[in-house]
Amino acid sequence: MTPQVYRTLAEYRIACDSLRASGARVGLVPTMGALHVGHLALASFARARGATPVVSIFVNPTQFGPNEDFASYPRTLERDLALCAEHGVGHVFVPSAHEMYPAGEQTRVHVAKLTDVLCGPKRPGHFDGVATVVAKFFNATGPCLAVFGRKDYQQLQVIRRMATDLLLPVEVLGHPIVREADGLALSSRNAYLSAGERALAPQIFGELRRAALGFAAGERRAAALREPVETALARAGFRIDYVELVGADTLEPILDEQQVPGRALLAVAAFLGKTRLIDNWVLGEESEGA
Ligand code: PAJ
Repeated sequence: MTPQVYRTLAEYRIACDSLRASGARVGLVPTMGALHVGHLALASFARARGATPVVSIFVNPTQFGPNEDFASYPRTLERDLALCAEHGVGHVFVPSAHEMYPAGEQTRVHVAKLTDVLCGPKRPGHFDGVATVVAKFFNATGPCLAVFGRKDYQQLQVIRRMATDLLLPVEVLGHPIVREADGLALSSRNAYLSAGERALAPQIFGELRRAALGFAAGERRAAALREPVETALARAGFRIDYVELVGADTLEPILDEQQVPGRALLAVAAFLGKTRLIDNWVLGEESEGA
């Protein structure tokens, strides 16, 4: 099945309205393209929840910092459409930058507090760019279910908060992290890794899992769970951006001298060469990383 591709807001709104008019629920999966099995799993998840998957593809300029990879971010539209076709995604929205950001635009959506930790301070303006573009996608789509991956765990929490606070008619769902056989979380940015870096990359998963096993065995001292992850990855050759423990819902920092409560997020951002990889594990939840 060749997907319907909507390139203008007007066409896209009509398509979403007519899906709803025919009794379907729209299952939105916002992406920046360079699609992989992780993205497609979100679409299948929407379908399994009874919705008609709709994938959006837009490399959003406002979420990239001045020294980040906006210009070089992989753009593989033909392949993306073929993958959508293969996976039964019948509707793809590929908007233009000038429609997403009308001339003279002045508006940003800022979610406070949840963006004060983890990637927030490391990537100034990033979450404003994400919240803004996702708010636009929600408004363009109308009432829907929307699926986001837990690989970008903080992003998911920011979007949930934004949708709730702005009274948007969208049910936001999280999907578990989809991984390669060796544990590396799928990411469009994995394409940047050299063969040597690719061989090292799964160690992030290995260290997260080791910490999760420690937690499952009863370890609750934050330092004992967090520090070995940072030490091992630094020793393996990663440049650590952060290794942090935060509350799983609030994202409030858990300090090294504290005890970890029932559920906590252990989150890693680390560079291999120029490539920034992120991953996480919710301690206290079963089968994370599946
Ligand atoms: P992108 O990085 O393309 O990711 C699109 C969606 O796929 C996000 O919800 C992300 O969490 C999810 N995803 C990516 N890799 C995954 C994996 N290995 N397992 C599970 N889910 C995965 O995230 C963005 O785009 C953008 O910030 C966006 C939300 C589209 C706003 O521009």
